[in-house]
Amino acid sequence: MSVRRLAPKEVQPASFEFTPENLAWAKEQITHYPPGRQASAVIAILWRAQEQQAGWVSEAAIRVVADMLEMPYIRVLEVATFYTQFQLQPVGKKAHIQVCGTTPCMLRGAGDLIDVCQHRIHHDPFHLSADGDFSWEEVECLGACVNAPMAMIWSDTYEDLTKESMNKLIDGFAAGTPPKPGSQIGRQFAAPEGGARVMTSGGAATYTKVLDMPKEPALADAEPKKQTESANVQERPAPKPPAADATKTNPPKGGTPKDPKNPKEPKK
Ligand code: FES
Repeated sequence: MSVRRLAPKEVQPASFEFTPENLAWAKEQITHYPPGRQASAVIAILWRAQEQQAGWVSEAAIRVVADMLEMPYIRVLEVATFYTQFQLQPVGKKAHIQVCGTTPCMLRGAGDLIDVCQHRIHHDPFHLSADGDFSWEEVECLGACVNAPMAMIWSDTYEDLTKESMNKLIDGFAAGTPPKPGSQIGRQFAAPEGGARVMTSGGAATYTKVLDMPKEPALADAEPKKQTESANVQERPAPKPPAADATKTNPPKGGTPKDPKNPKEPKK
């Protein structure tokens, strides 16, 4: 893990103020917690400050959030420096790329993705590209290991990446037309490529396909989130069960159990 410190004074803005919309949202977040426990809202509100301030939190923003939650400044600084999701210095205007470098992603080619970032953005993490449009860093597991290797940009994940698709991703953000988030090979969720399989023999294992996966597009928002858009606004459709879900198509023998108190109704 890298040393995480506030950006130098010369890049720190003199002040920070929430927009009226974000201020109303932040005040509403505080009401979710009992009186005296308003500090519990710190991550959500600090995150909104980062979204508003082009993808990073300044010292002024940390102070504003601390005052709002009646917390010592050092406590909010501790949160901002502990979680790698918070950026403490300016990031690329078009994309800050967080490449997962934990074991599953590394085994599946994260090194190639880092290589692309080093060649196209800057050799060292946290440095802006020459045009200021991009920056990158290596982070720990982002929770999408099943579709490794992956990277996160703003609030979206890009999965099943290769050297080629990573280059396309950077090209897309540079041109203002980034690809849809999610699996870059069209996988739905973490469904196996080509359908579910079971092992049908030991030793030199033989696998047999047992279920075609639905031919539906990967579930993702229509557009990737922009740098200052809020992560909690999602438009992706609700997931459906797999097409041949046995629990839907094969009811239990003897039919659905009845509720003994109301035999006309199925048991809940
Ligand atoms: S190891 Fe990369 S997302 Fe978990």
